[in-house]
Amino acid sequence: MSVGARLAGVRFSVPSKILTNADLEKMVDTTDDWIRTRTGIERRHVLSEGESATDIGMAAAQQLFSDGKIDKSSIDALIVATATPEMLFPSTACILTHKLGLNGVPAFDFSAACSGFLYGLSIAKSYIESGTFRSILLVCVEALSRIVDWKDRNTCVLFGDGAGAAVITATEDDRRIRSILIGADGQYQEYLYVPLGGTIAMSGRDVFQVACRKMTEAATQALADAHLTIDDIDLVIPHQANTRIILQVAKQLRIPEDKLFVNIQSYGNTSAASIPIAYREAELAGRVKPGANLLFVAFGGGFTWGSAVLKV
Ligand code: UT7
Repeated sequence: MSVGARLAGVRFSVPSKILTNADLEKMVDTTDDWIRTRTGIERRHVLSEGESATDIGMAAAQQLFSDGKIDKSSIDALIVATATPEMLFPSTACILTHKLGLNGVPAFDFSAACSGFLYGLSIAKSYIESGTFRSILLVCVEALSRIVDWKDRNTCVLFGDGAGAAVITATEDDRRIRSILIGADGQYQEYLYVPLGGTIAMSGRDVFQVACRKMTEAATQALADAHLTIDDIDLVIPHQANTRIILQVAKQLRIPEDKLFVNIQSYGNTSAASIPIAYREAELAGRVKPGANLLFVAFGGGFTWGSAVLKV
């Protein structure tokens, strides 16, 4: 078999501070009932003062190494998906090379909002299949609490902070990314954006509609590219932005509920970190068996989207 790219390990980290819907009731004109029924979210983790996105990114990545899952010296490149870099430069990826003891490996950030994990997988797959690198560390880290307007009930109830770290390695067997696609369309930029130095602005209803359509289209294409149908898929792990979006996409794709992984209730929307966090929780819950076929699908600001089919 030709060289392929395998998702070799995923870990995550979230800040210890939890903000519940009850806490938000004291901050804006909202209710626990509205947030639960309209989004599925019950609580989210947020950074404390003095804690940084790099801290949780590092904690996620370090678990991969300390669990003995991945040999740190094998990492050839570090890429970071984030909408919340700590500085314009150096990149969060560069800062992490030093904190993780990976000095010398190429490192860069990219921005694809909530589709960051899918974009990162696509970049890693291309590097590996071209023979450029054999092992890539992808860190998806978001400090959305730092760019949320805590007086805007339309957005502040939705987001949470978190980090997911994944290692993608070269493989010769069939446990690999079977298909992946990414896309973008800037015509919708005014529906969801953050101006430099500003806070998240969103037209939720518009985002909702395009998200359902694009996620369905992307997942359909990824399945077709992998020559599989939804019946061949063991577990679908979608971006966690809103339970109603997930259920709508599942309905359109005819995904039975027992093949769907949802953990938005505990984390809210953690943007690029949401799929790796969900993947690891699914794995810990025994829902990702070796050799299983998975479908990932994401959508975010830009708009950006992506979907992948992989055997793990
Ligand atoms: O990862 C990609 C990024 N974002 C998304 O995917 C988000 C996509 N959009 C959504 O998830 C949903 O559109 C929201 C959860 C943001 C909003 O749900 P909705 O059912 O589309 O509500 P809406 O925006 O149509 O607002 C309905 C009502 C409005 O009141 P009026 O105008 O009908 O009187 C809002 O002001 O709900 C009100 N509302 C709230 N009420 C209580 C909006 N936010 C809140 C709130 N608490 N937190």
